[in-house]
Amino acid sequence: MASFGWSVLRGAVRWLVLNGVMSAHTHDDIDWADRLAQLRMADTLDADALAPVARRLVAGLPERPAVVDVGCGAGGMSVLFARELGRRGGGTVVLVDTTPELLAEARRVVSEAAAGNVEVVGQSGDLADPGLAGRVPAADLVWASGVVHHVGDQQAALRTLAGLLRPGGVLAIAEGGLEMRCLPWELGVGRPGLEPRLLAARAAWFARMRAGIPGSVAMPYGWPRALREAGLQDIESFGALIDHPLPGSDLLREYVVHRVGWLGESAGEWLDADDRDTVAALTDPDGPDFLGRRDDLFLFGAKAIHCGRLR
Ligand SMILES: C[S@@+](CC[C@H](N)C(=O)[O-])C[C@H]1O[C@@H](n2cnc3c(N)ncnc32)[C@H](O)[C@@H]1O
Repeated sequence: MASFGWSVLRGAVRWLVLNGVMSAHTHDDIDWADRLAQLRMADTLDADALAPVARRLVAGLPERPAVVDVGCGAGGMSVLFARELGRRGGGTVVLVDTTPELLAEARRVVSEAAAGNVEVVGQSGDLADPGLAGRVPAADLVWASGVVHHVGDQQAALRTLAGLLRPGGVLAIAEGGLEMRCLPWELGVGRPGLEPRLLAARAAWFARMRAGIPGSVAMPYGWPRALREAGLQDIESFGALIDHPLPGSDLLREYVVHRVGWLGESAGEWLDADDRDTVAALTDPDGPDFLGRRDDLFLFGAKAIHCGRLR
C-alpha cells in the first residue's frame, strides 16, 4: 500500500479507537502502534535468521495445519509461516494482537505473502484473557514472540497459550536471548561504551515496566520450566543468530537510529545528562554526529526460542 493509503488507514483506525468502536489495550502501558515502523524494520532485518526457524517449526506439523501467532506485531514471522505453509500444501495462519494498527498491518503483509492455498485470519485478542481459546481456532502450532513478558502473570499466559493447542500441537515462544548490539565502542561523541549503558538503563526500565503491570507476579524460574508447568512435554530450546556485519545497509542505519532514539527515550531517566546529550546528538539528522551517516554500524544479537508439545 502506498504510504498515503497507509496513513489514511492508520487515521481511520485511530478514529475508531478514540471513539470506542475498537479497543487498543495492553497491560504494559506501551503505545505499540507508535512502534510500527521499528517493528517493520526489525521484521525485515530478522527474516534471514527466522526463516529456518519457521521451516523447522512447520516441518513436523500435520497436513494443512493451523498456525496461531499471538502478539503478532507487524506480522514478520507469520509471513515466513505463510510461505512455509504455501510450499507444503497450505493451511491457516491466525494473527492475534491487541493493537488494531498492528493487526491490520500484519494481515496486509501476511495476505500478500500467502499463496492461494493459505488462509489468513486476523483476530483481536488479549493474551491475558483466559478465555482466548474460545476466540481462535484450535492450533497445531502456537507462536508467541516477545509478548508473554508484557502480561502480568506470565505463567498463566503460557497456560492460556498451551490451551490453544490441539493434542500433539507445539507451543513455541521467543523470549530472552542476547540483546542486540549495533554501535562501536567509541563514537567520537560522548563517553566510550554508550551501548552497554543504554542496555543497563533499558534493563532498569524493563524491571519497572514488569512491576507496573496490574496483577504482575514473579516467575522466578526460566522459560523451559515455565513451559513444563504449563503442562507441555518434549521441551527444547535453541537460538537464532541475527548477524548483519558492517558495512550495514541503509535500512540497518535507519533501524539503528530508531533503536538508539527509542532506548534513549524509554530509558532516559536512568541515563546521566552526558549520555542523554550523546543520544540526542547521534539521532539528530541535521547534526555532525548523526548515526544515519556512519559506515561502521552493525547488528548482532540472538533470539532464544523455547518449545513444548501438548501430549
Ligand atoms: C514486542 S512486540 C512483538 C511483536 C512480534 N511478535 C515480534 O516478535 O516482532 C509485542 C506485541 O504484542 C502485542 N501485545 C502486547 N500485549 C498483548 C496482549 N496482552 N495480548 C496480545 N498481544 C499483546 C503488542 O501489540 C505487540 O504487537
